[in-house]
Amino acid sequence: MKIALVYSSKDGLLKEFKSRQGRDIPQTEIPVDFFAEGDSPETIQAIIHALESKGHQVVGIEADQLLNGQLNGYQPDLVFNIAEGLFGDFRESFVPMICEKYNIPYTGSDPLTLSICLNKARTKELLSYYQIPNAPFRIFSPQYEISLDEFEFPAIVKPVSEGSSKGIFNDSVVENIEQANARIWEKIEKYQQPVILEKFLKGEEYTVAVWGNGNEIEVLPIVAIQYSSLPKDAHPIYSYEAKWVWDTPENPLEIFQCPAPLSFAEKRKIEKVACDTYKVLQIRDWCRIDVRLDETGIPNILELNPLPGILPNPEDNSCFPKAARTAGYDYAGMLNKVVEFAAKRYGMKI
Ligand SMILES: Nc1ncnc2c1ncn2[C@@H]1O[C@H](COP(=O)(O)OP(=O)(O)O)[C@@H](O)[C@H]1O
Ligand SMILES: [Mg+2]
Repeated sequence: MKIALVYSSKDGLLKEFKSRQGRDIPQTEIPVDFFAEGDSPETIQAIIHALESKGHQVVGIEADQLLNGQLNGYQPDLVFNIAEGLFGDFRESFVPMICEKYNIPYTGSDPLTLSICLNKARTKELLSYYQIPNAPFRIFSPQYEISLDEFEFPAIVKPVSEGSSKGIFNDSVVENIEQANARIWEKIEKYQQPVILEKFLKGEEYTVAVWGNGNEIEVLPIVAIQYSSLPKDAHPIYSYEAKWVWDTPENPLEIFQCPAPLSFAEKRKIEKVACDTYKVLQIRDWCRIDVRLDETGIPNILELNPLPGILPNPEDNSCFPKAARTAGYDYAGMLNKVVEFAAKRYGMKI
């Protein structure tokens, strides 16, 4: 199959950032977590090689202004979409939108689902409609101020439309109204978007890789997040520091356990809520779903990642590949399975 891997590289994002600013930006002016979602050259190359090893013809294309022309020139049978974009609340939808317009089959969810999942508040509203447990929350922006009376603490402050733990630092956990107010306005200012304040879920945390479509939806082995490996005074959250600073290939944190140590009943409960969530959000092909137990042990949905991180090096601790590996799929096997799910949806032969 002729595949175009469409990505947002760290270099591409920096170029776009500079062009939007209309000037060269000194490194010191770029927030540390700014490029957390950009694809590295190693990831892009690893995906290309992996798909080629399965017999596909693969070209990598940056999701920038030249994308339309590149796709027209290459005429792929399928776009393998991993592009997370950089600007705006709909940045994850640009590539699928272009594919929709030019009638090119693509992997993963459609623009609507990607937009909703990128907005944690909208996602939670939808989950609540279908009675899928998620933490109570309030949303804040300069346009509307909301009272914090009767809000239960501790809580966590998160930018509404980010991923990869962007904007989620150890100091995002707040114990009372005063701390919440300070943190909320600081984050609105820094991330230039609304923030949500969410009740802190005190139980265990899991991340659940789910893939497939229709009656072929399958949950891969669940990954447990073990906070005992974090520095002593750190809050038990998978913060930016935990993801990108304290965990390095040289000094890996033993933060994940896969398969998670769960009883059969606990595992079934988490798998069920993950599958229900996958269906409610109309996810296609694959997704990683973050789940955390509340104080009564009920699994709550934190958020969905319909463009899951897929760092190729096992030491980089990327959870979708980790779950797939535990289920017996190597990197190429995992990516090819996603291609197969997408191809089947479009009624294509591989
Ligand atoms: N309501 C919550 N209660 C407890 N921990 C939370 C809550 N929301 C987020 N966290 C912690 O913060 C981490 C990042 O939050 P998440 O919503 O998954 O954002 P991201 O899109 O950056 O991954 C989670 O993995 C979890 O450890
Ligand atoms: Mg998350």
